[in-house]
Amino acid sequence: MSPQPKLRILFTRDEIETTVRKLAAEIRKDYQGRRPILIGILKGSFMFMADLIRLLDFPLEVEFIRLSSYGGGRESSGEIKVVQGLRSEVRGRDVLVIEDIVDTGLTTVFLLDYLRKKKPASLKLCALTDKPSRRQVPVTIDYLGFTLPNKFVVGYGLDWDENFRNLPDICILEE
Ligand code: XMP
Ligand code: MG
Repeated sequence: MSPQPKLRILFTRDEIETTVRKLAAEIRKDYQGRRPILIGILKGSFMFMADLIRLLDFPLEVEFIRLSSYGGGRESSGEIKVVQGLRSEVRGRDVLVIEDIVDTGLTTVFLLDYLRKKKPASLKLCALTDKPSRRQVPVTIDYLGFTLPNKFVVGYGLDWDENFRNLPDICILEE
């Protein structure tokens, strides 16, 4: 059996709550009266999406898209495919992408290009976390929660090989 990985809290559930409130306040200000589609990237964004939309007081739609970019482990393969697509028509709509993490940026850039081709009225990105030290392609994050050190993190939806998504805090997975 492999040794039990060690976890160290990086952002507590209270810090996450404060940050999600801050992001919701910014988004409320910009999208009032516009009925956007919020598109979450499965699986990692599900918890963030659930908390965020409860703080948004305007009409909106929720969609999820599933991309395959990772094998089982920690490294992006760089080869990205849409595994489960959208049901809503994106053309002419205000679209806000909800990401758990922007790491190399390859997944995000792929998705933004994919959505841009569908001609939305506007396209913005909200990411709970950002690991800029790992970036391979430039990404503009319109609404950002936390900047991460160059460490693998789990919890609050983020996984290591499907483990730890249920942790209420964001934790560093120690080597
Ligand atoms: P890229 O490299 O394309 O990766 O920006 C985005 C996807 O990579 C996964 N990822 C992580 N998942 N802890 C995780 O649980 C991390 O520290 C981490 N870094 C990257 C994640 O699935 C994300 O959608
Ligand atoms: Mg993952």
